[in-house]
Amino acid sequence: MLDQASLGFATLRWRDGGLELLDQTALPAEERYLRPAGLPELVAAIRRLAVRGAPALGCAGAYGMVLAVAGEDDPVRWRRRLETGAEELIAARPTAVNLAVGVGRLLAAGRRLAGDGADPRRWTQALLAEARAFHAEDEALCAEIGRNGAELLPDPVRILTHCNAGALATGGIGTALGVVYAARAAGRTVRVLADETRPLLQGARLTAWELTRAGIPVTVQADGAAGSALAAGEVDAVIVGADRIAANGDVANKVGTYPLAVLAREHGVPFYVAAPTTTIDLDCPDGSAIPIEQRPEEEVLAFAGAAAAPGARARNPAFDLTPAALVTALVTERGVLPAPDRTGLAAHCAGASSG
Ligand code: MRU
Repeated sequence: MLDQASLGFATLRWRDGGLELLDQTALPAEERYLRPAGLPELVAAIRRLAVRGAPALGCAGAYGMVLAVAGEDDPVRWRRRLETGAEELIAARPTAVNLAVGVGRLLAAGRRLAGDGADPRRWTQALLAEARAFHAEDEALCAEIGRNGAELLPDPVRILTHCNAGALATGGIGTALGVVYAARAAGRTVRVLADETRPLLQGARLTAWELTRAGIPVTVQADGAAGSALAAGEVDAVIVGADRIAANGDVANKVGTYPLAVLAREHGVPFYVAAPTTTIDLDCPDGSAIPIEQRPEEEVLAFAGAAAAPGARARNPAFDLTPAALVTALVTERGVLPAPDRTGLAAHCAGASSG
């Protein structure tokens, strides 16, 4: 199985009794691990994107639930810390549904444990085992997504991606970049065009970092250059990840994904969304029900440490919505779902692979 160990780094790990996060705000200049001392430090790390990407947030949320109750040996306080910890974690970033999925899984496990006996320290140990299992499952989901997506691609292939949907965004090899790694492992010749991804440069700082380490040729372009690359026939497929997929197939992903989907349609290039089924939220009937995170204006208004637009305000939605009609196919661990819609997605989630 393709995993993070084969890439030579861990996005997050539980080590020596604590959670460690590869600090993504420091990349590519520095590879350093953060060790949040408790839940407030982890929530702050999530908010400032030291750990980010929907599936990685799910894993961080799961481990965060362990931090929430760590050291507590009073059963009543343990239960209270479990419940409030879940609320604080889920509120840290609203769009990526995997955060709520990871936290919810641990919350349910914690409630079951707390109803059974009265030894909080053992409950905490059992929660840690559940968090590790969730993390391991995410790694396996990524490997399957990669394998399924690689089958869609020609050889050689030039892939355009946006943001970072790689190992840094998951507990495994990534979703969109999982497809890239799997295609490469299958012997295909792969080149990647990475949108730099304004305003925080997840494409330039993170996607380029991990692909370069893996020896996969990557070219970074300004987001606005995607249209001319597509028009010039320089792209065989666009592959992106997702933060949340509504029941009708609408996709929330990093801001700039929607214009990319429109451009791909205009130029007849397939637009694939690669995501685990844990990113599908059947409780959201369509994209309009997905909360879109609004981030601080300063992220847009600063350039190279100086004010870029003194006196101006900024609009800074972290994500946008791509209508399902623009998605050529959804790639999950279960297979490939062409032209996702409400019916197809329901069947896909129920276990019937359409691929
Ligand atoms: O704000 P970020 O960096 O957390 O946004 C991440 C993305 O938009 C990713 O494309 C998405 O989470 C999928 S990650 C496999």
